[in-house]
Amino acid sequence: MKDIKIESILTVFDNLDELPKAIITLMLEAVKARDKAYAPYSKFHVGAAILLDNQEIVTGSNQENASYPSGLCAERTAAYYAGAKFPNAKMLKIAITAASQNQKTESPIPPCGACRQALAEYEVKQKEPIDIYFMGETGKVVRSKSLANLLPLVFDKSSL
Ligand code: THU
Repeated sequence: MKDIKIESILTVFDNLDELPKAIITLMLEAVKARDKAYAPYSKFHVGAAILLDNQEIVTGSNQENASYPSGLCAERTAAYYAGAKFPNAKMLKIAITAASQNQKTESPIPPCGACRQALAEYEVKQKEPIDIYFMGETGKVVRSKSLANLLPLVFDKSSL
């Protein structure tokens, strides 16, 4: 018997201005996408922007549904759109932001488990890490250099 220690290192920035210009630009695209969210039920608006290696930026927002489970998160909306439109492009970076209509979202909002699994699929497929940045509406930004950091013990094609 032995224990396995799993360690993830994340970087926390005090605000968006501390980040390089290219990341600020990507995050501002995510903010624009967030403003297009369709979230009449949760009032929680999420935007995601993905930078591809062909230099395209693909964005998405959460799209809710009266049949709640039929809705989709911002990250998967963006990732699946990127995968559908540019199937051969690698996903280099993703910026995520969330804002609630009920309260100020000042702490960074990480991608949910299902979105981590979806993004992990592309990271495994492209054999290159996806650089992830997430924040609330304002305030701190968290960076993870790879999806593997956010989803240790990933279930992927190697198990099939
Ligand atoms: N949501 C996202 O868009 N991304 C996440 O990673 C977490 C949750 C959305 C789904 C739903 O429309 C709303 O936020 C509340 O859960």
